[in-house]
Amino acid sequence: MLQDRSWAWAPALLCAGALLFALYRSAMAALDAYGVEKGASLYAVHCASCHGGMLAGQEGWQMGSAALQGWRAPPLDASGHAWMHDDRALFQHVKNGGGISPMPAFGEKLSDNQIWQVFAFIRSTWPESVQDFQMNGDPYALLPADLPAGWTYPPACEPGAAPGALTPRL
Ligand code: HEC
Repeated sequence: MLQDRSWAWAPALLCAGALLFALYRSAMAALDAYGVEKGASLYAVHCASCHGGMLAGQEGWQMGSAALQGWRAPPLDASGHAWMHDDRALFQHVKNGGGISPMPAFGEKLSDNQIWQVFAFIRSTWPESVQDFQMNGDPYALLPADLPAGWTYPPACEPGAAPGALTPRL
């Protein structure tokens, strides 16, 4: 009999479990949203002057630096190719800068956490298939399904390489 009664708790335990799980999920979603929001304002202050308010980059970025006799900031939305680089490469490019390129080093201005927040914002503008591609870090995977119309392979960049590390192929 005792055993029978103990079963009566099972649905209540399941409900409590489901509730805790739902709370955990919404707390995580709130944290993500917080990072994206912080990242958006950091982006506006530190990055938009070159990469554009709408993340569209500077005119002519596809041509490569040599042809332009100078660098243009590439888009950071899905129309660019930042998503072809893994987290480590992206993070280090922002922390340490582009070296020979005008991309500044933000290691002194932004904390590591703030750099990740900026990327949380940037990533939030990418379609899901683009986010998946970037997260899986497989440079030879099929290109994401939801690329903007007319997207072409960037001339100055190869998949899997560190941004800015390659001489533009002209
Ligand atoms: C003074 C102009 C300037 C500012 C400000 C700037 N960038 Fe850049 N950025 C560039 C240029 C030019 C490049 C292309 C050359 C290179 O990759 O180093 C670039 C490249 C990048 C790349 C590599 C993109 C790719 O597709 O390979 C990332 C990521 C990036 N910037 C992120 C940022 C973030 C995040 C900020 C703000 C925290 C920022 N940049 C601020 C000029 C700038």
